[in-house]
Amino acid sequence: MKQPSATVADQAAIAEAAAILEQGGLVAFPTETVYGLGADAENPAAVARIYEAKGRPHDHPVIVHLAPGADLDYWTTDVPDAARQLVQAFWPGPLTLILKRHPRIPDAVSAGQDSVGMRCPSHPVAIALLQAFKGGKGGLAAPSANKFGNVSPTTAQHVRDEFGMDAHDDGALNGDDACSAAELSRVLEGGSSEVGIESTIVDMSRLATHGPVLLRPGHISAQQIAEVIGMLPAAPDQAAPRASGTLESHYAPRTPVTMLAADGFAATLSQLHAKGVKVALIGHDLPAALTASAHAHCMLPADPAGYAYGLYAALRDMDQTGAGLILVETPPQDGAWLGVNDRLRRSVFGSAGVIASLLQK
Ligand code: TXA
Ligand code: MG
Repeated sequence: MKQPSATVADQAAIAEAAAILEQGGLVAFPTETVYGLGADAENPAAVARIYEAKGRPHDHPVIVHLAPGADLDYWTTDVPDAARQLVQAFWPGPLTLILKRHPRIPDAVSAGQDSVGMRCPSHPVAIALLQAFKGGKGGLAAPSANKFGNVSPTTAQHVRDEFGMDAHDDGALNGDDACSAAELSRVLEGGSSEVGIESTIVDMSRLATHGPVLLRPGHISAQQIAEVIGMLPAAPDQAAPRASGTLESHYAPRTPVTMLAADGFAATLSQLHAKGVKVALIGHDLPAALTASAHAHCMLPADPAGYAYGLYAALRDMDQTGAGLILVETPPQDGAWLGVNDRLRRSVFGSAGVIASLLQK
């Protein structure tokens, strides 16, 4: 029998994972935002395996992850001073910068765009892996370790669930009991991701003409960025580089998800119950009497960081309850909640009118 996985990967597991990556394999690893599905960014065949494993369209670029202190200029050109200031202020941490791609970097990582997304994660296991991989000089291309369009994983178990792996598959280096996701050799353990939603993405590749542009809101806010560089990142324009996390439908469980303000909750819930609909609730301020009446519920903290930390696990848990609908109490709308509202908006996309149609049945 193989040992159960440790809560956090040890040095031996990290060294093995680095070796798998150096040989062109795929390894899922924890970061402070969500778990990533990593491959050698300088090996186009390895990067192609990421797209295959995720079922991700080929025109969606992936982010390159670097160890702290790695040489940004190896990967990029024309890095503006403002971008270096952001690196100084926020790396290692949940900020991805879009910069001009160096000609030596394969097309595959940026899906043919002339830019590349760069990030230095702060999770200790991610840092240890990046330091072990190619002696700290490599880059790991890593999208979130979920099937395309699904909710991002914030635990190693979420990754195994996404790719149909058993816990013991972690040790299946020689493939004697290869997991159904034959492409994914290893999942490194690192506990629950502290931030819980993906990194903030700022486009700095067109600074001279467009200024900084916020492609994806996250834990690091536009205001925090403005405090460092004296320019507030703008909302994306038509010509902004593409980002798949910015598709209208993304981060979506299988069960339809919809949002409802607290004041309409009780009446709608009893109408749904009267129709025999099983409803799973995600709230932050709902009264206990209401949550107790639901098929299942998950209450999240009423602060944006705590809510973000629990959001994806809550969506996954409620998706497994057999409910016909996941009803989310609309979170506050102020700036600090931008990242949370952005992800929820994409989870509910396509579910408009679902309550009305359930009530008509
Ligand atoms: O927190 C994160 O960023 C996580 C962890 C694993 O680091 N990664 C992540 O990767 O969320 P992914 O691939 O799921 O989302 C990355 C987003 C995508 O929307 C992608 O289109 C965008 O970044 N992106 C990557 N490179 C880009 C580029 N050169 N130009 C514009 N967008 C880019
Ligand atoms: Mg993703």
